[in-house]
Amino acid sequence: MKYRKNGKTGQDVSLLGFGAMRLPTIKGQHGAIDEEKTIHMIRHAIDNGLTYVDTAYVYHNGNSEVVVGKALKDGYREKVTVADKLPFWIAGSKEELDGILAESLRRLDIDIIDNLLVHDINEGSYENFKKFEVLPFVIKAKADGKARNIGFSYHGKTPEFFKELVDLYDWDFVQIQLNYMDQNMQAGVEGLKYLASKGIPAVIMEPLKGGKLTDILPDSITDLWETAPVKRTPADWAFRWVANFPEVTTILSGMSTIEQVEENLSILSEAEAGALTAAELSVIDAVAAEYNRLIPYGCTECRYCLPCPIGLQIPKIVGMRNEAEIFKSLKKTAFEVNAFLDVKPSACIACKKCEELCPQHLHISDIMAECAEMFEVR
Ligand SMILES: NC(=O)c1ccc[n+]([C@@H]2O[C@H](COP(=O)([O-])OP(=O)(O)OC[C@H]3O[C@@H](n4cnc5c(N)ncnc54)[C@H](OP(=O)(O)O)[C@@H]3O)[C@@H](O)[C@H]2O)c1
Repeated sequence: MKYRKNGKTGQDVSLLGFGAMRLPTIKGQHGAIDEEKTIHMIRHAIDNGLTYVDTAYVYHNGNSEVVVGKALKDGYREKVTVADKLPFWIAGSKEELDGILAESLRRLDIDIIDNLLVHDINEGSYENFKKFEVLPFVIKAKADGKARNIGFSYHGKTPEFFKELVDLYDWDFVQIQLNYMDQNMQAGVEGLKYLASKGIPAVIMEPLKGGKLTDILPDSITDLWETAPVKRTPADWAFRWVANFPEVTTILSGMSTIEQVEENLSILSEAEAGALTAAELSVIDAVAAEYNRLIPYGCTECRYCLPCPIGLQIPKIVGMRNEAEIFKSLKKTAFEVNAFLDVKPSACIACKKCEELCPQHLHISDIMAECAEMFEVR
């Protein structure tokens, strides 16, 4: 495992961190985590040098914290930095924040959260961030010994707003989305460099765009990878692109199988900052350009949009829409939409609750209308 220095604490942090948002589940039930598999995967990663585990109050309907807590029993807790997130946007008032943090500590069954993040401050949630006095709350949580370090995660629209948030406080660390497709989205590379200029450690999420960069590949993408001077898997290329930035402290990956854990441990035991050649970077740029040409909507299936009040499986439908475009499989997708979806896209009531929550800022109600038009039999 490669390690990078956390400039604030002086600690060495493993370049691979474990993101506990996409854990293996039983029968596809999002809240029903396969505990045995997950505990094995997390402990195997720690046994092989991983020192950072990231969960959140809302992941897997609250069960991620519980299972991460179990994985960290038997001496594993002392070997890692535990990151957890405060979803202030589910609170109805500032008084509720205390209860949410206490519940996180209870579920994890630990006394202190090493890295406490204000979860997803964006242009929409900023008003409540101020109204509920979330910053003073986390500063106090640190002073009271409930958190060792405090930071925030960002899915806002622009690097400009990101910089404003960074400037609010001398944060101990910050978490941003970054992969070769999203260089100029949200905080982007500009945001990463800004963090470095302030000496703030950068934790990276969605390095594989939630797995979109490793799913079944369109032929044109496979052809481009074939032109690379070295043979690597798509996951390998994507991780190395992020690791190439010396400003990155640790890269979180949501791993859902032990094979993925093995592969990612191995990749991040080799990847170095500044190691990619100009020829390698130009192949990655060509792949990014081709994906941008092919993919209509940049959904990462993070599920922040759920639950939909009328039960639409939004990430699944957007995924179907993307696949229909990438693989030119309109007929097959139309069959699947009509045969397998209990709630069809045309049922969308355009309440736009999901749009307020979507970290990728997708106009979901428009996409549902488009999918209804494209796929549904009337
Ligand atoms: N704070 C926030 O607002 C926020 C938002 C998003 C994420 N996060 C955190 O950041 C973490 C990382 O983000 P992410 O889960 O989106 O990471 P990611 O690495 O971009 O995506 C994870 C997915 O990639 C696929 N994958 C992983 N390793 C692979 C490999 N070696 N080969 C092929 N496919 C592979 C898996 O998809 P399949 O399951 O389809 O195989 C996995 O579920 C999350 O788990 C979460 O802890 C935080």
